[in-house]
Amino acid sequence: MTTKSFVPPVRTLMGPGPSDVHPRILSAMARPTIGHLDPLFVAMMDEMKHLLQYAFRTENQLTIPVSAPGSAGMETCFVNLVQPGDKVIVCQNGVFGGRMKENVERVGATAVMVEDAWGEAVDPDKLRDALKANPDAKVVAFVHAETSTGACSDAKTLCEIAREHDCLSIVDAVTSLGGSPLEVDAWGIDAIYSGSQKCLSCTPGLSPVSFSERAIETIKNRKHKVPSWFMDLNLVMGYWGGEGKRAYHHTAPINALYGLHEALVMLEEEGLENSWARHTRNHLALRAGIEAMDLQFIVKEQDRLPQLNSVTIPEGVDEAVVRSRLLNEFNLEIGAGLGTLAGKVWRIGLMGYASRPANILLCLGALDAVLTDMKAPINTGLAVKAANEVMMSK
Ligand SMILES: Cc1ncc(COP(=O)(O)O)c(C=O)c1O
Repeated sequence: MTTKSFVPPVRTLMGPGPSDVHPRILSAMARPTIGHLDPLFVAMMDEMKHLLQYAFRTENQLTIPVSAPGSAGMETCFVNLVQPGDKVIVCQNGVFGGRMKENVERVGATAVMVEDAWGEAVDPDKLRDALKANPDAKVVAFVHAETSTGACSDAKTLCEIAREHDCLSIVDAVTSLGGSPLEVDAWGIDAIYSGSQKCLSCTPGLSPVSFSERAIETIKNRKHKVPSWFMDLNLVMGYWGGEGKRAYHHTAPINALYGLHEALVMLEEEGLENSWARHTRNHLALRAGIEAMDLQFIVKEQDRLPQLNSVTIPEGVDEAVVRSRLLNEFNLEIGAGLGTLAGKVWRIGLMGYASRPANILLCLGALDAVLTDMKAPINTGLAVKAANEVMMSK
């Protein structure tokens, strides 16, 4: 018997990512593969850099997609900017701050942790105190949009504090890029990484990054060689660098880059600010439905990410059974809790193309149906109506 082609079902992806990929992006990815040094491909790469500058709101020349997922964007920042023996202040308020700590330690540096409760934003005062106590710190790292909890931190203030103490900032914007206000230049961010699979509506596997002049100077003046060949920006820039001039570094993921290009073209067509506003509008409709059902958000209103909604699970309900019924009966994926929130919350994503009214109604209707069938203590039958009222009130 021969193995058959893999044909996945069409799911609605409303978890913490990947999110629904727009059909335009999938068809762009099916276009003919051309060489990675083909002049037409090189011209597309130049456009891509400009589109990423638009999305990040930066003039940074070193603004490119790393050919690997968000974690590789994270690693690119740490291996290039941190050297053995350096001290890095890492603010942690969820899973991904912990991954930053791992990165710091693996390059032979010391991580000084500034901890905040999961579900809360990073506290700027705690960062100030840590910098006063560690005047030799070189870098401040934090997650702008913590996907494990749905909390958004004040990246502008945190980067200002880092600068006041002469530190570079490394910012995780995997879940914020395209979904929430983010201003790389205006906020003085030195190094930032994101992911293609969240609010950009693209497939997973690429990580847009951007580096300030200050960050580039630090990389140029390193005493030690960057400990990763693949992520050494001095080498990567030979391929992505100065307009038009390109040398082989690695074989670029050609068709994946067509997808990201299309995603960014669509972002530009919609307008970045309109995209931020759409994410907020749809969050408010989902919120009305969730609260009408009598579920609660775990993040304070002012710190809530519109694209990642962490909500409580009703008493006595096996949350994994609910997720599996949503998947099997409605082709709908929502996310489980991660780390210390495992088993305590669901994470409902409204990211990129998934952030649209039809998805909100599907999710609320399906959740209401399954929970009602399981005799969960919710207000049955109110969620869709409440969301509809918000959507129709514009
Ligand atoms: C905040 C944050 N940082 C980093 C990552 C890692 O990205 P990837 O899974 O694409 O490697 C994720 C993925 O969900 C994330 O949400």
